[in-house]
Order: sequence, then C-alpha cells, then structure tokens
Amino acid sequence: MKRNILITGGAGFIGSHVVRLFVEKYPDYRIVCLDKLTYAGNLENLRDVEQRPNYVFERADICDFEAMKAIFRKYAVDGVIHLAAESHVDRSIRDPFTFAHTNVLGTLSLLEAARTEWESRPERYEGKRFHHVSTDEVYGALEADGGCFTETTPYAPHSPYSASKASSDHFVRAFHDTYGLPTVVTNCSNNYGPYQFPEKLIPLFINNIRQRRPLPVYGTGCNVRDWLYVEDHALALDAVFHRGGTAETYNIGGFNEWRNIDLVRLLVRTVDRLLGNPEGCSEELITFVADRAGHDLRYAIDSSKLERELGWRPSLQFEEGIEKTVRWYLDNQEWMDNVTSGEYREYYRQMYGK
Ligand code: NAD
Ligand code: DAU
Repeated sequence: MKRNILITGGAGFIGSHVVRLFVEKYPDYRIVCLDKLTYAGNLENLRDVEQRPNYVFERADICDFEAMKAIFRKYAVDGVIHLAAESHVDRSIRDPFTFAHTNVLGTLSLLEAARTEWESRPERYEGKRFHHVSTDEVYGALEADGGCFTETTPYAPHSPYSASKASSDHFVRAFHDTYGLPTVVTNCSNNYGPYQFPEKLIPLFINNIRQRRPLPVYGTGCNVRDWLYVEDHALALDAVFHRGGTAETYNIGGFNEWRNIDLVRLLVRTVDRLLGNPEGCSEELITFVADRAGHDLRYAIDSSKLERELGWRPSLQFEEGIEKTVRWYLDNQEWMDNVTSGEYREYYRQMYGK
C-alpha cells in the first residue's frame, strides 16, 4: 500500500463519508477506520465499503494511549485524519466531563502516540501528516450583521463542546510548535446529509415531521448557521490532507447562512411535498421552546483561503442538498428506526466485543 491512513471517528456522520471517499478514491491506500462505537458511531454507515480490500476497522478508544500506539505500529500509520469526538452541544451542557475527556485527553493521547511512533522511525516526520478536524464553534458567536469567521479570528468558545474542541486545537498546534509534528487544522461550519445521528436539527426534524411529533425550535428561531453538504466537507478534507500547508489552518464553510426558523420551514415544505401531505400541513408541529443555554447567535465561515489556495468550493446548492437529504432519510427509515432504538449499536458492539 502506498499510504496507511488512520481515520478516527470513521463510523460517525462525517467520518463515514470521509472513509467512503478515501476507500473509493485511493485504492492504493490502506484506510484504517478507528471508532469506539459510542451511541453516535454506527458501522451500518459503512456497509457499502466494508468488504473493500483497502478497508479495515479497529474498535478502540482514542483515550487509550497504549491501544493508539499499537495501532500506529500494526498498520505503519503515516497519516491521520482525526474526527473522533463527542459532537453534540446539548449533551455537552448536560455532561461536560465526557467532552473534556474524549475531545481533549483523547486528542492528546492520539497526538502523543503519533509523536512517539513517528519519532521512533528512521524517517521520523517525513511524509507524515496529522490532520485535526475542528469546528467553527471555537470562534464563538457573530453579531447578526457582523462579518464572517476567518482563520485569524480569536478563539472565544461558549459551550463545553466548543471549549473542548478549542482546547484540542491548541494541543494540536502546540505539538507542531514544540515537537515539529506535521499538523494541519480545519474548522468547518454545520454539516448536513445522510447518516447524521438524529439528535442534530436536520435529521431530528425530518424524523419528527414523518412521525407527526413536535419540532422544538430553541428560543426565537433567529439563530443563524452556515450549512455545508457533508460530501463537500469530505472533499475539502481530502484537499487539505493532501495539499494543505503544514501548521496551517483552513476554514471550511458553505457560504450558506440560514436562520433556524427559515430552515425549519424549508424542511417542513420539503418533507410534506415528498410525503404527499397537503401543503403546509406540518407547520402546526413547529413549537418554540426554551433557548439552549449559551446559544451562539450566528456562525458564518469565510472559506476564501481554501478556495484561493486549494481550489475548493461547495459543489451543491442548499435547496438541492436538502432535497437529497430529506429523500435519503425518508428512503432509509429502517436506518433511522434502528439508530434511534439502538439496535445497530448493540449488534456491532457484540460483534466487536467489550
Ligand atoms: P459524530 O458524533 O457523528 O461522530 C463521532 C464519532 O466519534 C462516532 O462514530 C463515535 O463513536 C466516535 N467516538 C467518540 N468518542 C470516541 C473515542 N473516545 N474513541 C474513538 N471514537 C470515538 O460527529 P460528527 O458530526 O461526524 O463530527 C465529526 C468531527 O467533526 C468532530 O470532531 C466534530 O467536532 C467535527 N465537526 C462536526 C461538524 C458537524 O456539523 N457535525 C462541523 C464541524 C466539525
Ligand atoms: O458549527 C459546527 C457545529 O455544528 C459542529 O461543531 C457540531 O458538532 C454540530 O453538532 C453543529 O452544532 P449546532 O449546535 O449548530 O447543531 P445542532 O444541529 O445541534 O443545532 C443547529 C441549530 O438548531 C442551533 O442553533 C440549535 C438549533 N436547534 C437544535 C436542535 C437539536 C433547535 O432549535 N432545536 C433542536 O431541537
């Protein structure tokens, strides 16, 4: 194999799209998909690539330093794309310790495994890359009319989730500055598309509309997010992993800002149309509820550096992406039902032990 790439969090939402892209696009790479299979990780997301000769799966916890070193050695890992994390803001508000543990200590464990293993090889850091996948939430919140986040926007995280991601970003950069580890960091906006765990706004609401359940809009619904189709994120990661500069940061975004309430209305219209419901029939499900604590008002990413230097741009118009996404969830109701019931998780946990 030409390269041995470790993709952490590969059974999660974005990770599964990155694994699929790399397995299919690079048949001469061995792709090691590593995942602990938490509630958010699901090997069902990778059923279509699991038989490929260049794909292997390892069930492991990134916080387990000895296990990480063993995996680096077993597969002669020379590149890492690190996505494993606790990723849901609402959970971080209820359980901040788990976020600090996984996102900060887990990232540190992986960095230290990469450093010690790569430093022990004759070629050391030559041909190596540690790509850390982060979020725009580390930059804090923007005013309604307050410009966009750039790569030099100061960090100002507000939730335990974004604080843990900010901390992990600092560790990654510190490992470059202190030890010379060849790192690169990307900070991306909100992703949407197939295989997203239905705790996040878009799959949760599609499922609730289908089941005629309330759609809980936090606060006034005026918070703004910048949405990017998940496959476009995977393509951006591919570009940065292969061609991005060492120790650089690249913002990734959709140039696509939506107020939550407008997005929810678009979802309602799309789901109703595809289900053949009378127009507007699910509007009555929209329910304004108490706001999320520390709810960031607006995120918007300026990804012009990535466009200028690496030629990446989002490929999909939002309405097209939403249509594709809604269709996918409606056509894959078994996936949704099994994910929400935990049936898949139990099956794969039994298969991989622990
Ligand atoms: P996700 O929650 O769907 O997937 C996370 C994956 O990590 C799961 O498969 C889970 O089992 C695995 N994992 C969790 N703890 C682990 C551990 N200790 N060891 C090994 N594996 C573990 O998350 P996602 O939405 O796919 O996000 C992936 C990454 O991208 C995260 O780092 C997140 O911060 C970042 N990100 C997400 C978005 C977004 O909109 N979803 C946007 C920007 C950045
Ligand atoms: O910006 C990137 C981030 O996007 C990622 O780093 C996170 O991992 C990812 O979860 C996402 O965070 P958000 O908090 O923006 O996504 P979420 O889908 O949870 O919420 C989107 C918006 O919708 C947010 O303003 C909160 C609101 N919301 C969310 C839920 C789940 C509601 O109004 N009601 C809901 O039930």
